[in-house]
Amino acid sequence: MTRASVKNCINLKLNVWRQKGPDVNGRFESYKARNISTDMSFLEMLDVVNEELILSGKDPIAFDHDCREGICGTCGAMVNGRAHGPEKGTTLCQLHMRYFSDGDTVVIEPWRSRAFKVVKDLVVDRSAFDKIIQAGGYISVNTGGAPDGNAILVSQEVAEKSMDAASCIGCGACVAACPNASAMLFTGAKISQFALLPQGHPEAKKRAHAMICKMDELGFGNCTNEAECEKACPKEISIVNIARMNREFLKAALF
Ligand code: SF4
Ligand code: FES
Repeated sequence: MTRASVKNCINLKLNVWRQKGPDVNGRFESYKARNISTDMSFLEMLDVVNEELILSGKDPIAFDHDCREGICGTCGAMVNGRAHGPEKGTTLCQLHMRYFSDGDTVVIEPWRSRAFKVVKDLVVDRSAFDKIIQAGGYISVNTGGAPDGNAILVSQEVAEKSMDAASCIGCGACVAACPNASAMLFTGAKISQFALLPQGHPEAKKRAHAMICKMDELGFGNCTNEAECEKACPKEISIVNIARMNREFLKAALF
């Protein structure tokens, strides 16, 4: 029995993408992750590796993170070729090391997409998503206070569909998982959350048209119905939202 298994710890070999900046070539570098508790999250494992790198005078691996609770959408990397790693409906910060075995080799790469430039190592620039949101503009309806809001009748079914779409955290895994690097699941979710509710109707057509045009302009690919985005999404956003987005776009084009 190895020391690692006695302590409920594992040892891993990591192949990590290292890239000093957006305009320089990157390469894989190998590191050992030693005595990693299986109760740690994936990001805590990277923290342990980074502490060792810093102690030995080397540059730590750059990766994005904030809430570490699956809420903010900041974290994300390809782990053995899968966006956010092997667990369904899980962000990288919520992926636990118990899903790995002692002696595993783990390949860690940034999201790959023309629209998401690598900033450093595993950090990519996802400001293209912000530009799509900005293109959508504002909602002109004055919803007033809570009593006024309650006076606008919304069926439970519609409210739940809208809330499901609104649970998109903007992580970018859908783009990374798509063979065409399409942003349609993200954009479809953002368009749907407003298009479903009466408060979002006045600008619905303008919004759909502007957001889709911006998405195309930013260099994202097209959708060819691979559904890899849905599989990779940590919030399990349905591709039904892409179909709804296409209907909204058609309405905008017709009227
Ligand atoms: S649709 Fe899912 S995978 Fe895409 S950005 Fe939103 S939460 Fe992330
Ligand atoms: S760090 Fe916030 S979702 Fe992972």
